[in-house]
Order: sequence, then structure tokens, then C-alpha cells
Amino acid sequence: MRLLVAGGAGFIGSAFVRRRLVATADSIVVLDKLTYAGNRENLAEVERDTRLAPRLRFVKGDIADAVLVRSLMADEAIEGVVNFAAESHVDRSILDAEAFLRTGVIGVHVLLEAVRERAGEALAAARPAPRLLQVSTDEVYGSLASGASRETDPLAPRSPYSAAKAAGELLVQAYHATYGIDTVVTRGANTYGPRQHPEKLIPLFVTNAIDDQPLPLYGDGLQRRDWLHVDDHADAVGFVFDRGEGGGIYNVAADRERSNREVTAAILDRLGKPWSLVRHVEDRPGHDRRYAMDGSTLARLGWRPTMTFDDGLARTVDWYLANEAWWRSLRGGEWAEYYARQYGRRLAGSHEV
Ligand code: NAD
Ligand code: DAU
Repeated sequence: MRLLVAGGAGFIGSAFVRRRLVATADSIVVLDKLTYAGNRENLAEVERDTRLAPRLRFVKGDIADAVLVRSLMADEAIEGVVNFAAESHVDRSILDAEAFLRTGVIGVHVLLEAVRERAGEALAAARPAPRLLQVSTDEVYGSLASGASRETDPLAPRSPYSAAKAAGELLVQAYHATYGIDTVVTRGANTYGPRQHPEKLIPLFVTNAIDDQPLPLYGDGLQRRDWLHVDDHADAVGFVFDRGEGGGIYNVAADRERSNREVTAAILDRLGKPWSLVRHVEDRPGHDRRYAMDGSTLARLGWRPTMTFDDGLARTVDWYLANEAWWRSLRGGEWAEYYARQYGRRLAGSHEV
């Protein structure tokens, strides 16, 4: 099959591309805008592999560019679309939400229209209709005091990021209901692992701790997340693309729930760094206290995560230790300005925990 993978130069998308090319005979066209979060280097391993590289093509571009997306789908004879493209950082959505809406809503609409057009052509030529998989998030359920969200629960997003993600996946569901487009949606838990941009909790705390810089823990640090290894997330997306029911929605849970304090302690322990690096800083506005999902729908279909949190975190910390050039290059350029805006005032008013 020939797939279009949007956002395939990002953290989870690039893991999907690497693993899909190894596990299947598919060929892949990556469409990625290379925002500050997109990194061509994430695909370098595949592009250097003489067995895999002939099945990969990279195109720099925006999923909200309808002319580009329509022509790419036709010229490349695309048979399926997997959409990872999004602005993915909650804190940035609080600073400025516009790009989140442009990619998360308009961009998704452009992809859906292009798939609809291809579906019409496929029908006329008696070929299978293309499928679109939309990568969504557990954040669409909002904060959960207890229990676990099921796929049928109402959506209650509480940040500009999660509201844009909810809007995007609702559009996908609407296109399935209205036009009969073959769609599937995955809602993944908090993902961690190699090649995650250092703005996110785990890589930020690992890289700051390596440099003996303060670790800005929001509020009381007792917020809870379910931590899913990136390889498990990427494999679940492939599994749902291949076996999910048309119109289906699938939670991708890890069942490895930890508080932010527990995660921080595990990072410091692996690095042999002291707790005194941790600073209590002003909380994220509207901070969701806890996410947790019921993963039984996907388990019944035959998929379960394999990586334990202890093992996954240890490997992740070791990867950042061994790949300093990768993350140091991302902590240059616009990073200083972002860091000052996001943490300057917070750290000035912080205290040790
Ligand atoms: P990321 O920020 O690392 O990567 C996003 C990629 O999308 C980047 O390569 C970027 O250049 C590209 N992109 C952004 N806007 C684009 C546009 N308009 N056109 C084309 N490409 C564009 O994000 P990630 O953590 O890999 O997340 C991937 C997807 O998974 C996102 O949709 C996110 O909402 C979802 N998700 C992430 C997590 C997580 O914990 N990281 C968990 C659940 C779901
Ligand atoms: O749950 C899935 C979501 O997980 C994805 O949809 C998002 O794309 C992804 O970014 C992630 O969102 P979070 O907001 O949960 O992840 P983040 O790494 O930003 O924060 C994790 C927790 O750590 C959260 O409770 C906020 C806290 N935190 C984060 C940062 C960056 C801190 O305490 N200090 C920080 O500096």
C-alpha cells in the first residue's frame, strides 16, 4: 500500500514511519511542514538504510494547503492517509492558539476533502476506498478525577490544544457519517521516548538535569498521566489502521499511570542527580489533573502495550545521554525566547520542593 503520512518528521510520526517500513512492504510519502517541532533528522536512519530508503519520499509542505495535498494524493496514487500533523504542545497553545486551529481543524478538513475525492475515483474504478486514520489524544476527554475514559464518553477538552484536537476528530467522524469516508481515530495517552522535542515534561527534565538546570514542576506536581512508550504508540496506530473497524475510535492506553513527581524522581534517579534541582513553579492555567483511559476495546481487537514504564524511561534517559547533538540543536534558535516566555517569570518566583 502507498501511504501518505502527515507529520511524519515529528516524534511519534517518525517512529511510525521507521517501524512501518520495517514491518510491512508499504511505501510512504511523508508530508511535513517542518515546524520548530519537525525534524528531518528524525528520518535520517531510514533515509540512510538502502533497503528502506527506496520506499520513502519526503515532501515539505502544509496539510492546510489544499492544492498541494490534492495533487500529492493523485500524483503519488495514495491509498491511505495517517495524520500525525498537529501543533502538539499544550503550553504553546495557551500562549497562542492560532496555529493549533489552522493545522488541527483546517488542515484536517483539507485531508478529508482530498480523501473524499480519492474515494470517488476509487469507486468509479472499482478499487478499494482510501482510509484516513486521525491520530487524536486522551486529552479530548478532559480531566478525570477517578476511573478511566471509554470511547463512548462525552468529550470535554479544556485547553486550546485539546479543543483543536477534539474539533479535528469530530470532523473526521462527521465525514464518516455524512460521506461514508473510511476513517478511524486513535486516542493516545501521554507518549515518551527517543526524539521527543525537549519542550515536553520528560525530555525537558532529562536535558535540564543533564545540564544541572532547574526542573520547573507545575503546581504541586501531583497531576497524573498514563505514560505510553513511542514504539507502542506507533505500533498501535499501525494496528488500528490495518484492523480497526470503519468509523471506529480506539483508546491507546498504557496502564502505566504516574504522578509528575514520581516521573521526576525516576528521571533524577536514572541520572544520579539531586532532587534539589526541582523547583515548584506557578501552575499551568486550566491544568488537567489526571488522564486515564480504558484500553479494553483495542485489547479485544488484539493489541496491548509491551514496554514497562521503568524500562522505557531508563532507555529514554540513556538515549538523551547518548544523543546530545540531537537535542542541543533544538535548544538553540527560538528556544531561548520560548523558554524565557514560558519559564522566566515562573522560575524567578519559584522555590525548592
Ligand atoms: P510533534 O510536535 O513532535 O510532531 C508534529 C509534526 O507535525 C512535526 O513534524 C511538524 O512539523 C508537523 N506539522 C505540524 N503542523 C503541520 C502542518 N500544518 N502540515 C504538515 N505538518 C505539520 O508531535 P507528536 O508528539 O509526535 O504528536 C503527533 C500526533 O500525536 C499529534 O497529532 C498529537 O496531537 C498526537 N498525540 C501526541 C501525544 C504525545 O504525548 N506526544 C499523545 C497523544 C496524541
Ligand atoms: O495526554 C496526551 C498528550 O500528552 C498529548 O496529546 C500532547 O500532545 C502531549 O504534549 C502531552 O500533553 P501534556 O500536557 O500532558 O504533556 P507535557 O509533557 O506538556 O506535560 C506533562 C505533565 O507535566 C503535565 O501535567 C504538565 C507537567 N509539566 C510539564 C512541563 C512541560 C510540568 O510540571 N512542568 C513542565 O515544564
